[in-house]
Parts: sequence; structure tokens; C-alpha cells
Amino acid sequence: MSLPALHVAVVGATGMVGREFFRVLEQREFPVASIRALASERSAGSRLVWRGASLLVEALRPDAFAGVDVALFSAGAGVSRAHAPTAVSAGALVVDNSSAWRMAQDVPLVVPEVNPDDIGLHHGIVANPNCCAIPLTMVLEPLRRRAGLERVLVATYQAASGAGWRLVRELEEQTQALAEGRQPQARHYPRVLAGNVVPGGWREGSNGYNEEEVKIVEETRKILHQPELRIAATCVRVPVAVGHSLAVFVETQRALTAEEAIAVLSAAPGVLVREGDDYPTPAEVAGSDKVFVGRVRRDLSSPCGLACWVVADNLRKGAALNAVQIAERAIRMGALTR
Ligand SMILES: NC(=O)c1ccc[n+]([C@@H]2O[C@H](COP(=O)([O-])OP(=O)(O)OC[C@H]3O[C@@H](n4cnc5c(N)ncnc54)[C@H](OP(=O)(O)O)[C@@H]3O)[C@@H](O)[C@H]2O)c1
Repeated sequence: MSLPALHVAVVGATGMVGREFFRVLEQREFPVASIRALASERSAGSRLVWRGASLLVEALRPDAFAGVDVALFSAGAGVSRAHAPTAVSAGALVVDNSSAWRMAQDVPLVVPEVNPDDIGLHHGIVANPNCCAIPLTMVLEPLRRRAGLERVLVATYQAASGAGWRLVRELEEQTQALAEGRQPQARHYPRVLAGNVVPGGWREGSNGYNEEEVKIVEETRKILHQPELRIAATCVRVPVAVGHSLAVFVETQRALTAEEAIAVLSAAPGVLVREGDDYPTPAEVAGSDKVFVGRVRRDLSSPCGLACWVVADNLRKGAALNAVQIAERAIRMGALTR
């Protein structure tokens, strides 16, 4: 089915996710009639490349959404709170990458491979989940369908790009400093990341958990429609440019062998299982669209326990790709407008 050409706006166009949006839209041949690149005053007047031509970056203003059909937001929660309602009033479907609306009751939080039908419930905004919640739910959902979910424990190994371009640059500078025998400096992140692993850098949440850990827990429950799911997370930043990894322990309601779990995950859309020593790593997975799963094994400490290692590109499936897939699905469902 050919899709109608649409007027698109990318908010946060100059950021890590924003730049990925342009690549994903182009690679997937999203039906773009026109596209606007919106950012802050800081980079207004700079230029990006779109379909081989130069595209002017404009400052985000309230009138920026006139005539826009789809607005892809990735400029932080404050910008989304301030400008997404304006875009909706102008008639656009907003797909928002920030955390601003994810837990709002009337805003669907969607991973197209997991809960696509929720898109139809939107009132102008569809929220794109946290970059770890997306791959996590893609792995949990097929296991849930087959054997039910009892409890989930996850430890993340998150790339610098998950915190935006400033931390990517800081990691490069710190790595260079280490190579030259100088003392690396932490400027934007609370600790030095090069040569280190840092179990923090996110705002304080509740009960000793940080905001990222709370997001993973709450968003996973919402996406899976399982509000009582027993789940806990520990989030860690690692000196990797792109690609979030997760060590996941799952207790299902009915026992699955490792072979059964591998078969279930191999059949799941968007998931690629790697067996044995062929485990995925972020350096190999960066740039791919799949969620990679390796080291699938029984957790021998629990009768219904499974363990696995999950890796995905945080800028693509963890952000821009998932958001574009939401927009594509909304178009196909005839759910672009309220
Ligand atoms: N990175 C990830 O893996 C990831 C994954 C999922 C979700 N997200 C979410 O996506 C959003 C962007 O993340 P990022 O990593 O791309 O950040 P980033 O690299 O720091 O980029 C931020 C973008 O927002 C723009 N911006 C900042 N303040 C603005 C304002 N007042 N008005 C208009 N534009 C403004 C910046 O424009 P200037 O160039 O003008 O400063 C830039 O384009 C965040 O909400 C983040 O939580 C990120």
C-alpha cells in the first residue's frame, strides 16, 4: 500500500536522536512531502543534509507547526510539554521521544511490535518509550504470551549517546586524555566515563532508585498492560558510544527450557537471537534496527527462571526508528488524526 506524502517536522533536529530521525526517514522512504528541522536559537541558521540537499535549521516557535501532519519530538521533556500541545492543535500527530507524556493516562506508550493497537487510542500524542524499555519489552512480550511473567530483574549497560551529544563528546575527550597520559575531566556527567562504569548520572527518583530505573519499571508495566508486574532495574552508564545492553533475569509463570525460550524469541518480530559464542555486543549492533538477544539460558536459581543478554541501538530502535514505526503504523491504521 503506498502511503500519502506528509508534511513532517523534527523537533530537536540537531541532537543525537534528531539526526537519526533524518537517516531513518530517508532509509525507510517515509512518505515525506516536506520536512522542517527545528531546534533552539543556538543552532538556528545551521544546516543539515536531507536527501542529499542542504536543509535549514529553524528556531522552534509556536507557529512552526502550521500545515504539519507528523511532528517528531526529541528535544527534552520541557520542550515537549511546552510545544507538543501546540503541534496537536495545529492538526499534527506528535510522536514524542521525551519522558513528558509517557505515563499520562490518555497518552499511548507504544512499541509497534508489542502493543500497536494502543496507537488508536491517542488524542494527538503518542509517546515513544525509554530506550531500555523498548528492547526489554520486545523480549518480555513473546515470553509473556507463551509462559506468563512473574518477575523481571534487569541491569543496564547504557551508551554515552543515551545522554545526548554532550556526553559523547566528553567521552571522546576523556578517552583522548587517557591515551595521552592526561587526567580525564568530567564536565557534563557526574563522574569520568572513560575507563569506568558509572551507576548513576540520572536524577534521583524514589526509594533509592534513579529516574531512569523508575522509567524502565513503570513504562514496561504500561507497555505490557501488566501494572502489577514485579520488576526492578539497576542502570549503569558504560564507556560505549552507541548501543545499550541489558542483562535480564525473567521468572515466567510456567517453566520454559532455554531451547523453548530461544524458539519463542526467534519467532518474535524485530528480535534476532544469537546463540552460543555469537553473543551480540554494542559495537557490532550499532546501526542495526533489530533487538539482539544472546546468552539465553536457564537461571538455575529459580524453577521458572531464564537469563539473557539483550543489545539494541539506542538511537535507532531505542528512539528514532521506534518513533518512525509508530508514525508509519498510525498512517496504515488511518489513525493519524484524532
Ligand atoms: N539519546 C537517546 O538514546 C535517547 C533515546 C530515547 C529518548 N531520548 C530523548 O530524546 C530527547 C533528545 O535526546 P538527544 O540524545 O538527541 O539530546 P541531544 O543530543 O542533547 O539533542 C537535544 C536537541 O534538542 C534541541 N533543543 C534543546 N533545547 C531546545 C529548545 N528549547 N527548543 C528547541 N530545541 C531544543 C537541541 O537543539 P540545539 O542544537 O539548538 O541545542 C538538540 O537538537 C531527550 O528527551 C531524550 O530523553 C534520547
